[in-house]
Amino acid sequence: MLIAIPKLPGEAPGARVDHSGVSPQIEILANDLATLMQERRALQQQVANTRREILYRLALAAELKDGDTADHIERIGVMAAHLARLAGLPVSFSALLRHAAPMHDVGKIGIPDSILKKPGPLTEEEWVVMRTHPTVGSEILSGSGIALLDLAAEVALTHHERFDGGGYPRRLKGQTIPLAGRIVSIVDFFDALTMDRCYREARPFQEVLDAIAADSGTRFDPDLVRIFLAHAADFMRLKAASEAGDRTRAKLLTAT
Ligand SMILES: [Fe+2]
Ligand SMILES: [Fe+2]
Repeated sequence: MLIAIPKLPGEAPGARVDHSGVSPQIEILANDLATLMQERRALQQQVANTRREILYRLALAAELKDGDTADHIERIGVMAAHLARLAGLPVSFSALLRHAAPMHDVGKIGIPDSILKKPGPLTEEEWVVMRTHPTVGSEILSGSGIALLDLAAEVALTHHERFDGGGYPRRLKGQTIPLAGRIVSIVDFFDALTMDRCYREARPFQEVLDAIAADSGTRFDPDLVRIFLAHAADFMRLKAASEAGDRTRAKLLTAT
């Protein structure tokens, strides 16, 4: 690959320049350097893609164990990123959340099937076990120092906290709950309740939207609820597109 040799100071833009004095070795070195830089960028992109793909498959393993579908975790990523953008958060954050949010339930890998797939209500003892999944998920994901994994760990740990302090595992309250956890809490509730589970059927959109409104300020961040409800049509469209079989990641992303 050839690169343009920079003009010298004082050379007019677009002027024909005689580079015949440039040593051939310098030109070879410059071209080698350009090739190396291009390969380095491609490698960095490959590493980032691999990291995201491994995380996605880890989340998939947890969701399939829970009896959910790949569509659910895919939608959670897209919906969380969309809500983050609607809330005015930077693209850099929403892009990271897009890939971190699907990890929210990765800790369910550590929950026995007898509890996870129980077709009826859980006993209090079983709930104690179930409520460990945020901590388990955080332990799986934290400590790497990689931004995407750190955010995924934060989401896993905080997606069941409640705005009024009545959630789990740490009973965090209000703004002390990380924003990513508050965002995922709403979109996970919306998506989970509007799909069939082994223990109940999907609820109608309006019923779930009313439930979110009713839980504003108690379960959910009221500011985020206001934004979510103002753009409820977007989230229903995403869900409908996914259920209509329009399930590729690219299609869902362009739907936001
Ligand atoms: Fe969860
Ligand atoms: Fe979920």
